[in-house]
Amino acid sequence: MNVLVTREIPEAGLRLLESFDVTVLSEQPPGRAELLEAAHGADGVLCTLTEKIDAEFMDAAGRSLKVVANMAVGYDNVDLGAAKERGVVVTNTPEVLNETTADAAFMLLLAAARRLGEGERIVRAGEWKAWGPKMLLGPDVWGKKLGIIGLGGIGEAVVRRAKGFGMEILYTGHSRKEEAEREFGARYLELNELLQESDFLSIHTPLTDETRHLIGAEEFEKMKSEAVLVNTSRGPVVDEAALADALESRRIFAAGLDVYEEEPEVHPKLLKLENVVLTPHIGSASIETRDKMATLAAENLQAVLSGKEPLHSVNP
Ligand code: GLV
Repeated sequence: MNVLVTREIPEAGLRLLESFDVTVLSEQPPGRAELLEAAHGADGVLCTLTEKIDAEFMDAAGRSLKVVANMAVGYDNVDLGAAKERGVVVTNTPEVLNETTADAAFMLLLAAARRLGEGERIVRAGEWKAWGPKMLLGPDVWGKKLGIIGLGGIGEAVVRRAKGFGMEILYTGHSRKEEAEREFGARYLELNELLQESDFLSIHTPLTDETRHLIGAEEFEKMKSEAVLVNTSRGPVVDEAALADALESRRIFAAGLDVYEEEPEVHPKLLKLENVVLTPHIGSASIETRDKMATLAAENLQAVLSGKEPLHSVNP
């Protein structure tokens, strides 16, 4: 059977695919034409979030296509409707990246609050003159209120870190999480109240029609002026232009972003602002976790191609 792997992925995943006829495309995201051509005749595709897996792609693969194994927890890059029409199983890699992504969210939260990027730029530019009693002051993190938007596996892992910093936990989402309420004293609030009460906001919701631009100009108006927003989910959950305005006008204190609306493009205004920390979508980028994600994606693909139930189908 033919398997297309759309990017160079960790060896741990590739090793599991040795019984297939495997084509691995480039380290960088393939161009659309290259991707469509390579899809032809594939029984299984192991892809990443940089590939748009839509009807056109599935038709380019043809009738042989049985499974699209996305090496990510998010799967907004895959058209589930088109997959369903064609009987293609779509899988993702949940859980294995929860702790690593939570580390990244907390890294951004601390960095944005304590102005790590600005400080680094000053030191590297040779502009640091002396210790300063009022230099690079930012809000304390410890003991503050953290609002989680979407308390799933990653959100909960962030909460566990926040408890170590003595933070009070607020959350919003589709449903109440009674266990988290008991275990962490997390308090459920409607989004509007969460925006008003939180000192820090961290987004952990998938990108859907419902969550696209969930946070925009109106929402920034409701936040505290010392608020810090962290996004490690998907860029389009936040209206990036509205965020840039909110940061520029100091409507909110700072932001930490790992994801963007048009990756790898970043809103030009954000690039010029000091009060935003920018990382290039590396939430799950630890050595161990990327091995696990590649392994899980390969296991999902292998299961479907050998007629078994995949571990993590998103369209059962
Ligand atoms: C990364 O963004 C993922 O969804 O796994």
